[in-house]
Amino acid sequence: MIWETLDDYEALSNRAALILLEAIRENPRAVLGLPTGRTPAGMYRHVVAECAREYHCFRDVTTFNLDEYAGIPREHPGSYFTFMKRHLFDHIDVDPSRTHIPDGSAADLAAECARYEAAINAAGGLGLTFLGLGRNGHIAFNEPGTPFDSRTRRVELAESTRRANADFFHGLQVPTHALTMGIGTILESRRIVLLASGSGKDAAIARLETLDIDPSFPASALWDHDDVTVLVGR
Ligand code: GLP
Repeated sequence: MIWETLDDYEALSNRAALILLEAIRENPRAVLGLPTGRTPAGMYRHVVAECAREYHCFRDVTTFNLDEYAGIPREHPGSYFTFMKRHLFDHIDVDPSRTHIPDGSAADLAAECARYEAAINAAGGLGLTFLGLGRNGHIAFNEPGTPFDSRTRRVELAESTRRANADFFHGLQVPTHALTMGIGTILESRRIVLLASGSGKDAAIARLETLDIDPSFPASALWDHDDVTVLVGR
C-alpha cells in the first residue's frame, strides 16, 4: 500500500485527477470504478477542466459506479445517477451506454446486482477503481461487518451513514437501503486509489494505518490487495 499525504483537499483532488487522466491516456479503453460523495467532487472538477482541453478524452472509456441508493428513481436529486451527471458525465465525451450505475429502482434488485456483476466481467473487469472512505471505514456502501468476499448486493445503510449523507437529500428522506459492489468485487480491480479526506475522517485514516485487517473496518480489506494507493488530504 502506497501512502501519499497531500497538503490539502485541492492538492488531493489534483493528484487523483492526474492518476485518472494518466490511466485513460495510457489505455483509452480503460474500465474505471468510480465513487461518489464529497471527497471525489474535486477530482471530477479537475478532470472536467482538463478534458475540456482534450478531444476524445473519455470516448472509449467504460465506467462502473460503486453504488446507488435503493428505492428511489434515477432522477431523484439525491441519487448517485444525478450526482454523476452533475459532476462528470454531463461535461465529458463519455458514451452514456458505457457508463454503468446500479439501478436502485429495478423491480428485482437481486437480479439487478447479478446483472451488474456480469456487466463488469463482460467489460473485462475493473482496471482502476477510486474509493472514498466512510467515517466508519466503509468503502462503497460496505458497512462494518461486511465479509471481504462479498459481491454486488442490496444492503441496509448504517444510521450514521444516512446522517452523513443527509445533505445530498435537502430535507428529503435518506433511503434506508442501497445496492453496492461488494468488497470482493472491488478487490478484483487491478488498481485501487483510496481518497481519504474530509471532516471526521482522522480516526478512520489512523485505523487504516494500523494494519489491523478485520471486517469490522471494511477499508482494511485493501491491505490484501497489491496495488493500492491511499491519498490523504487533510
Ligand atoms: C458514501 C458513499 C461512499 C463514500 C462515502 C464517503 O457513503 N457510498 O462511497 O466513500 O460516502 O463520503 P464523503 O466523501 O462525502 O465523505
